[in-house]
Amino acid sequence: MPSLFSEQDLRNALASVCYPGFRRDILSFGLVKEVAVDGNDVKVQLVLSTNEPAIPNILKKEIEAALKKVTGVSEVTVLIDIQAPVAAPATGPQGIPGVRHIIAIASGKGGVGKSTVAVNLAIALQQLGASVGLCDCDLYGPSVAFLCGTKERPKANEQDQIIPIEKHGIRLMSMGLLLEEGAPAVLRGPMVSRYIQQFLRQVAWGNLDYLLLDLPPGTGDIQLTLVQTVPLTGAVLVTTPQEVALLDVRKAAAMFQKTNVPLLGIVENMSYFLSPSDGVRHAIFGSEGGIQEALHLGIPLLGEIPLDIALRSSGDEGLPLVAQKKITPSSEVFQKVAEQLYSECNTY
Ligand SMILES: Nc1ncnc2c1ncn2[C@@H]1O[C@H](COP(=O)(O)OP(=O)(O)OP(=O)(O)O)[C@@H](O)[C@H]1O
Ligand SMILES: [Mg+2]
Repeated sequence: MPSLFSEQDLRNALASVCYPGFRRDILSFGLVKEVAVDGNDVKVQLVLSTNEPAIPNILKKEIEAALKKVTGVSEVTVLIDIQAPVAAPATGPQGIPGVRHIIAIASGKGGVGKSTVAVNLAIALQQLGASVGLCDCDLYGPSVAFLCGTKERPKANEQDQIIPIEKHGIRLMSMGLLLEEGAPAVLRGPMVSRYIQQFLRQVAWGNLDYLLLDLPPGTGDIQLTLVQTVPLTGAVLVTTPQEVALLDVRKAAAMFQKTNVPLLGIVENMSYFLSPSDGVRHAIFGSEGGIQEALHLGIPLLGEIPLDIALRSSGDEGLPLVAQKKITPSSEVFQKVAEQLYSECNTY
């Protein structure tokens, strides 16, 4: 006998169950791996990677209650698979004392919005209550200081470490703070590695929940030095939906996979333009590139940021959109991405 309910009814019900402590639901977090229907019985499988023992039980109860409200559903079985947290390698890269998670913000192609994402995401994580640092690893084209609106010169402490600049509630370090305005960084290969190591080890980062690394585009010396120097919790890949950006993001993904850096997800930027006059979405750089690539890599699509004049001008003014605490379509995406990273990382 056919069921009285459709799979969509079940998905709608699951979308009403939020992950404990979050406004985000379990479906959009990508935690639901399977929904199977057998007559009027429903079986749901979840994959979690949490160390908190209470969470599976809370979710189980809430899912059962939500699904039983769907007309026609009789038995509900919830299976929860707990994945082992990823451990840092025993040898090789050494952590930074006091820093819990180091996350690289990377892309293959230039100009897709890594620095914009890194800055706004760092502030969104801080607004969730985390202590956050942002290290601009783009030595040749540093933009974090500009985007955050600071020209303050870092000072050294008694241990000869550089004290990061505090701005918008986060700690910053960038070549842009060390160079005269407009001066190019003239660095050769070995110097690049040395600077990156200094930025990570000679800066007094203090205790941080998250240290975000804004990477230059591509898969060059800087990226390789990073993965060899510090154990990364993971990498967030930024791309536009355009094929030419996706081609390059695949190369960046392959580099992280080869070096055993977990891919935390994709942020698609410049996903669409919302016409202010008629509210129509225009897919300027194509559509669905991010989700297709996320599915291909088996990682979550963390968010889709629209082309947004306010986001661009906030960068030019040095007052990041998320720091302005305005609710806009793009600031909401940054908040959601931050929430997902927060929950994903707290399981490590
Ligand atoms: N969603 C968006 N809407 C409008 N403008 C954006 C958006 N995302 C980024 N920009 C603008 O695009 C430009 C490039 O962004 P950004 O510097 O963040 O890219 P990037 O990937 O870090 O570049 P690079 O590869 O040079 O480091 C900036 O002027 C930024 O303000
Ligand atoms: Mg950049």
